[in-house]
Amino acid sequence: MKTQVCIVGGGPSGLMLSQLLHLKGIDTIVLEKHSREYVLSRIRAGVLEHGFAELMREAECGERMDREGEIHEGFLVSDNGAMRRVDLHRYSGGSSVVVYGQTELTRDLYDARDRMNGKVVHNAEDVALFDLNTDKPYVTYRDGDEVIRIDCDYVIGADGFHGVSRKAIPKDVLREYERVYPFGWLGVLSRTKPVSPELIYARHERGFALCSLRSQVLSRYYIQVPLTDTVEDWSDDAFWAELKSRLPDEVAARMITGPSIEKSIAPLRSFVAEPMRWGNLFLAGDAAHIVPPTGARGLNSAASDIYYLYHAMVDHYAKGDDTGLENYSAKALARVWKAQRFSWWMTMLLHTFPDSIAYDCKLRQTDLDYLFSSEAALASLAENYVGLPF
Ligand code: FAD
Ligand code: PHB
Repeated sequence: MKTQVCIVGGGPSGLMLSQLLHLKGIDTIVLEKHSREYVLSRIRAGVLEHGFAELMREAECGERMDREGEIHEGFLVSDNGAMRRVDLHRYSGGSSVVVYGQTELTRDLYDARDRMNGKVVHNAEDVALFDLNTDKPYVTYRDGDEVIRIDCDYVIGADGFHGVSRKAIPKDVLREYERVYPFGWLGVLSRTKPVSPELIYARHERGFALCSLRSQVLSRYYIQVPLTDTVEDWSDDAFWAELKSRLPDEVAARMITGPSIEKSIAPLRSFVAEPMRWGNLFLAGDAAHIVPPTGARGLNSAASDIYYLYHAMVDHYAKGDDTGLENYSAKALARVWKAQRFSWWMTMLLHTFPDSIAYDCKLRQTDLDYLFSSEAALASLAENYVGLPF
């Protein structure tokens, strides 16, 4: 098989790029390791920044998001029971975020690829990348006993943190920066009315908690748990009791609980791989960088990679201009590191660290008090949360 751009990974990054390039007449094949049902069963992001929403519209996939997604102009921060609001709209100069689940937007992207006869290969096993540093790279995958080869101009590694693409870059070229946090998030999805119309980020001495939502009948809640905990350690009753204990009394009192329809633990990690280009391989999204979910930046960081790659590819094929491709890694990394900084800061501010000394605790408290006493600090938070410009 032959294509112009072979995309490894059928998550939001890979599908979005495939869709955008297709609309500009550039041929792609997406290779996804898992079945579509499996990809759509993963519950992940819920908050999309303005720039991501715009890309969905440009990809002709924004209709349902605009109809069903909720515009949020602020969120709440609870500090050991005291609640304050961050007015995103006011402090970002009129911007907002969209609450729309990653599952739904991935479904919209798959539907669009199907409508346009896009090539998305599911259950592509043993994907391997070859000759990336030449002008004739190729990718192989296994379908049963058959090994299939795809010749292409470019390979996009959009296969997430555990994918194969990043590992194809030689060890003496790749630099990796990582911080692993000593806790994870236990997440529960439940078919209940959300406790609050706006997200609540709760700082509490028992640990962080987050009240989020997917719609007015679907709630998403998280609590900080030790890395040693497993999903089996947490019955639904134990989860609800712990969540309520970390929220202000009046919020806990109006919380509607119900059976969990999904429960999972995500470890928290910050990670960046540099460079994001090697030869004719370009990394995008979680394949190149991971943030702890506290700042809701993961998918949103992927969006800027896709935006830069999309424009770079279009300039290459339509105008023969390779400036965008040449500058991709540096340009993408400049924004990626800002999202890293913000996510790290939100994580440090709101979580309880098992090894904190009294001095660290005082500093964290001062950081939060300063935030709500300074218009400049609130403006900085708001500008990062709604998304820095691409
Ligand atoms: P992925 O979604 O990981 O997709 C990669 C795809 O590649 C997968 O489908 C995988 O099956 C496939 N693949 C892997 N290996 C191979 C292989 N060898 N061959 C072929 N295919 C392969 N972000 C936000 O912006 N806002 C939020 O509110 C937010 N909340 C989050 C909450 C949680 C609990 C978690 C865990 C994450 C959250 N994120 C959030 C982050 C967001 O979910 C990720 O950043 C996003 O999924 C990245 O998309 P991606 O397409 O780059 O990678
Ligand atoms: C979510 O709804 O899953 C969500 C929202 C905000 C975050 C992280 C996750 O910061």
